[in-house]
Amino acid sequence: MNESRTVAAAATGTLLVAAATLWLLGSRWVRQSPAGHGGGGGDGVQGAAAAAENKAKVQRVKRSVKNGLVGLIGNTPLIKIRSLSDATGCEILGKAEFLNPGGSVKDRVAVKIIQEALQNGTLRVGGLITEGSAGSTGVSLAMVASAYGCKCHVVLPDDAAIEKAQNLEALGATVERVRPVSITHKDHFVNIARRRATDAETLRLRNSQVTQLKGLQENRGGFFADQFENLANFRAHYEGTGPEIWQQTGGNMHAFVAAAGTGGTIAGVSCFLKDQDSGVKCYLIDPPGSSLFNRVTRGVMYTREEAEGKRLKNPFDTITEGIGINRLTENFKLAQLDGAFRGTDKEAVEMSRFLLREDGLFVGSSSAMNCVGAVRVARQLGPGHTIVTILCDSGARHLSKFHNPKYLAEHGLTPFATGLEFLVPQ
Ligand SMILES: Cc1ncc(COP(=O)(O)O)c(C=O)c1O
Repeated sequence: MNESRTVAAAATGTLLVAAATLWLLGSRWVRQSPAGHGGGGGDGVQGAAAAAENKAKVQRVKRSVKNGLVGLIGNTPLIKIRSLSDATGCEILGKAEFLNPGGSVKDRVAVKIIQEALQNGTLRVGGLITEGSAGSTGVSLAMVASAYGCKCHVVLPDDAAIEKAQNLEALGATVERVRPVSITHKDHFVNIARRRATDAETLRLRNSQVTQLKGLQENRGGFFADQFENLANFRAHYEGTGPEIWQQTGGNMHAFVAAAGTGGTIAGVSCFLKDQDSGVKCYLIDPPGSSLFNRVTRGVMYTREEAEGKRLKNPFDTITEGIGINRLTENFKLAQLDGAFRGTDKEAVEMSRFLLREDGLFVGSSSAMNCVGAVRVARQLGPGHTIVTILCDSGARHLSKFHNPKYLAEHGLTPFATGLEFLVPQ
């Protein structure tokens, strides 16, 4: 017993000495360790110096706050499309317009159209912006109109998917679904949209005296956005998309290619690029049913039989949306082009699946067609060139047709390629 007590006491003593040593070391460490902040009466002075330095650092960092929704539009990234670049030996770059808040390249156009109209007085804050659009422009206008304190009315054909109308209404627009007819008919949805703006404007002029006399809220009138003929569309790309591409490539690019709907993108971008360097080649890629290929390559839009108004009311020309047209718009007239290619629906569908499989890029039909064009240009120019195109919107906008396996099967467009073998030599 005694012996064990002695051993226990000795062990306890050793532990106490060890603990005391650790405590001493610890308190030394505590006093010395916070670099620059310890050390008796120096605490306050050095702390203040560090705080001042931190404040200066914060002030040196540039503010990067975007100005509301409109501040988010444009300045989209330019991305290298690895699969197409590897396959062609060219650098193929896509402008990621699907990253705009409204999901497409049309956000830029909506902003420019509204800004110019407010500046020149054809649109007033609180006024009604009208447009005929079953596509992205309606969505962009509906969204951007609110940011400028305006209202939006979209007219679209009643054969457009019902989700399109629902989406526009959810964004706060009023929607009118009308019978699909030729553009030459007075009741084509674009012509109705134009009329709605004129009616609102007439009402404003007629009522302004009455509203003033009665102290009623003033009718703010109407404005037809007119994306096909309004050159604000061209300017959105001449002043925005074009300069961004030039800056992002450092001016080291050889070609630009895109399909055209209104023609605003291809006209604005091609003019800007040619103004910087006339050696930059600009090309159109045209979907089935469109007359622009003929216009660029042969100087004629169409044969007499194909003329607008003589065509079927609803010809099934192409599965692609937003691109291809059978009339010459004021916007397209300004395009500076070196040539044109044709693309098929099959190629566009296959290209979209190729990009998804190889790069994880989920794009819509016009973006896929643009990439078909980029490969055609790469093959024509040969390896070593930098080619830019537009990724207009995401595949999420195209679930009912272009990304719907059942719809594709019904139209003989089921994709099956494993590489780029689907691209037909031209
Ligand atoms: C999704 C999409 N891509 C491309 C285009 C064509 O662009 P642009 O009208 O500038 O020719 C449009 C036009 O409506 C579109 O909606």
